[in-house]
Amino acid sequence: MNLVSITDLTGEEILEILDRSDELKRSRSETGQVLARKSLATIFEKPSTRTRVSLEVAMTDLGGHALHLCSSDLQLGRGETIADTARVLSRFVHGIAARVFDHATVEELAFHADVPVINSLSNREHPCQILADLMTMRESFGYLEGLKVAWIGDGNNVCNSTILASALMGLDLTVACPPGHEPDGDILDEADRLGGRVKVVADPAKAAEGAEVVETDTWVSMGDEAEAALRENVFEPYQVNSGLMSLVSDGAIVMHCLPAHRGQEITDDVMDGPQSAILDQSENRLHTIKAVLERFLGGSTR
Ligand code: CP
Ligand code: NVA
Repeated sequence: MNLVSITDLTGEEILEILDRSDELKRSRSETGQVLARKSLATIFEKPSTRTRVSLEVAMTDLGGHALHLCSSDLQLGRGETIADTARVLSRFVHGIAARVFDHATVEELAFHADVPVINSLSNREHPCQILADLMTMRESFGYLEGLKVAWIGDGNNVCNSTILASALMGLDLTVACPPGHEPDGDILDEADRLGGRVKVVADPAKAAEGAEVVETDTWVSMGDEAEAALRENVFEPYQVNSGLMSLVSDGAIVMHCLPAHRGQEITDDVMDGPQSAILDQSENRLHTIKAVLERFLGGSTR
């Protein structure tokens, strides 16, 4: 059982994870020791604050242990194959979490590992993030089905997971992206197959109008740095600011997976304002990853 894509879970399983995350949030660190003496290898090809800290704190709170493995410090960085790394780690640990540039790397790890593999962000998806996002939406509104969500900005990894999760959970999602930066066609096709109601538009105002949730992300994802200047230009009309927020429904919330580039994709007043659910969303990374680790590693034996 792996979590490489959010579609590795059914809608029903996502709801179970969200229910458990709510319970874990209420009980804080009184979570029991369900992962006692279990180890999680966490491989990072890119920097991380929230993902790394939530994985490590969650493993500790659940009685287990996380190993931080920077990919350049592993023999992987000197040419040991992904397959051999996956097979060997499977003899030492009960699960592998991996943040990678190329989605194929986490797929290959999952294919060769004998223990669960959790995608901690790839160029294609960020399933751990979307679980925290769904938890935050449900905390704010009490339901997910039919919630009107606007994604404003880059059709990137987090957007892709939002699209797939929308299809699984019945969100009413409109994605507003500059031409050329739309989400991957195969993600939209998969969402269609799952019965999703996803619209892709170019006009951010159209997406924001009447939205109950506005979500954005950086214009320059890790790996896109060479295009930074170009992107900052193209994405300027997609800033989440007070003008855009004047179009949303009463009681709407603003979300951002972080890290934010204040003054670019989101302004300070919106990020720090009363509609911001961003810090709750960030905290929910911890509760949701605990529920994921319990579920995926709880039954895992080496
Ligand atoms: N949102 C998120 O994954 O943040 P980090 O890059 O800090 O892990
Ligand atoms: N889209 C961003 C998300 C960071 C959590 C990136 O890939 O850099």
